[in-house]
Amino acid sequence: MSNRRNWLKQIGLGAIGLSITPFETFANPLAENHISQNLDNSPILLRSNENPYGPSPLARAAMQKSINSSNRYGWNLSDELIALIATKNNVSNSNILLGAGSTEILDLVLQYTALQKGNFILAETTFNYWTFPSEKLGLKKITVPLTADKKHDLTAMLKAIDSDTKMIYICNPNNPTGTICDYEALVSFVKEASKNAIVFIDEAYLDFTKEKSLSSLAIENKNLIITKTFSKMYGLAGARVGYAVAAASTIEELSALKSSPNLSVTVVSTNAAIASLNDTKFIEQVKAANEEVKKYTVEQLSKLNLTCIPSHSNFIYFSLDNYKKDFFKQLENHNIQGTKIYEENGKWTRITIGTMKEMQRFIEAIK
Ligand SMILES: Cc1ncc(COP(=O)(O)O)c(C=O)c1O
Repeated sequence: MSNRRNWLKQIGLGAIGLSITPFETFANPLAENHISQNLDNSPILLRSNENPYGPSPLARAAMQKSINSSNRYGWNLSDELIALIATKNNVSNSNILLGAGSTEILDLVLQYTALQKGNFILAETTFNYWTFPSEKLGLKKITVPLTADKKHDLTAMLKAIDSDTKMIYICNPNNPTGTICDYEALVSFVKEASKNAIVFIDEAYLDFTKEKSLSSLAIENKNLIITKTFSKMYGLAGARVGYAVAAASTIEELSALKSSPNLSVTVVSTNAAIASLNDTKFIEQVKAANEEVKKYTVEQLSKLNLTCIPSHSNFIYFSLDNYKKDFFKQLENHNIQGTKIYEENGKWTRITIGTMKEMQRFIEAIK
């Protein structure tokens, strides 16, 4: 049996329904989080697309070790992380800007866009919390519906651009629908749309796919900004580490809006991110687990006659149109946190893919 299968078996994925014994918890430190969660009866968190297995063992060790150096500013350490991120993305250090989570980058790009006023375009439905301050910043928001299969409608988005458009946001894969743009179509879109406006691509979930990042295109295109995060695949949501990849001149302009660029990530979190980048084994395990649990969950939802959109991420978008009970009451009764209805038409909701055990409990809860 391969290592991967051994590991899947250990955490209860090899055979569905196999429960995890306390021994296996010790044998596999990655299982610690969700085991203790199930034992102490705390809620099952399927709301925010967090990684249920992480931080990685190397990140945990690095964080503990670095507590003692938290009396010092992390200038050199940020440089070390920036260099590692640049290598991973095949760009130069001058193409990277760190943020306390990618939320800091999203906020910054919104502020940067607002310097010119005008409008910005995004899909309806997509990740949009970061756009809440847009009106206060003097920006008009234009939304473009997704296609029937819940993908970004790149043609319609291109058509929506007018002389006042300053930025277009594409979340790829898209949250909450889990759909992904065709790479070539996205490259053509960027080429056209970036002639007069910033194209802002959010790759928070791209690590879960085999798709290529657009980061290398950003080096030469000052109107293309990519944002990425350590919150999802790397399991560091609470540590707050994200970054932008852009042309050096664009990074300079974004940095000029900050008094201390790259200093908002703590020494402990920077060390966690550095260690995570080196823990390729953990990443492979998380990816494999996510795929297995996704497959199980989609199969079960389909058995309940609930339509799912094929997911390229660590969450599933599905329709409650055929669901007869009160879905959110069922979750509440079983101490499970889900999200909301994103689209009334079709009653579309999203569920984060937790561990196998958590998803088994989720399925039992809604049966
Ligand atoms: C698409 C997308 N972008 C960005 C974020 C922000 O993540 P963070 O600030 O933790 O990097 C999220 C969080 O859920 C997200 O779903």
